Amino acid sequence: AASTLEELRAAFEGFDGCSLKETAMNFVFADGAQSARLMLIGEAPGGEEDRMGIPFVGPAGQLLDKMLSAVGIDRSEVYITNILPWRPPGNRNPTDAEISACLPFIERHIVLVKPDILVLVGGISAKTLLRRKEGIMRLRGKWMKYEPENGYPVIARALLHPAYLLRQPAQKRETWHDLLEVRARLDENS
Ligand code: URA
Repeated sequence: AASTLEELRAAFEGFDGCSLKETAMNFVFADGAQSARLMLIGEAPGGEEDRMGIPFVGPAGQLLDKMLSAVGIDRSEVYITNILPWRPPGNRNPTDAEISACLPFIERHIVLVKPDILVLVGGISAKTLLRRKEGIMRLRGKWMKYEPENGYPVIARALLHPAYLLRQPAQKRETWHDLLEVRARLDENS
């Protein structure tokens, strides 16, 4: 029911329904411009994010920043968050129960930011928010629609996760293509 991002942050930080909170060092809410037209949603904080309390600041985040700036998008112009605000121990994949517990918060987060475009970073983010079973390889490369039960629809683009691209640099081409599409769409609607 939060009506501002500050209220949402406080409610989420005080939420005890996800056990990842017990092992994480920090609560990682979001970074960037609250008025951003582009909202990026990743999976969960990694080690560096957990230490700093800021999303996408480790090696994957640095690659993401570079890829955004290659298409003329500065990190300070976008809004970045994750499905989960607490790091899963040892960076394991989050469980379905952990994701479901936190889902209402990200849904509200999207309503409050009101972006024109959502970028879903990685398979977990894409599958969760698009409510699809296919893997990221099938979900990326096209425009999709985020259609929440409560809230308004937002056009969405799924991206390969930069942590995957660090291991598979040959796949960067695909992501470059997706980001150019995002850039073009932003320019179209500006
Ligand atoms: N990977 C994510 O999905 N999110 C982060 O914040 C960092 C790494």
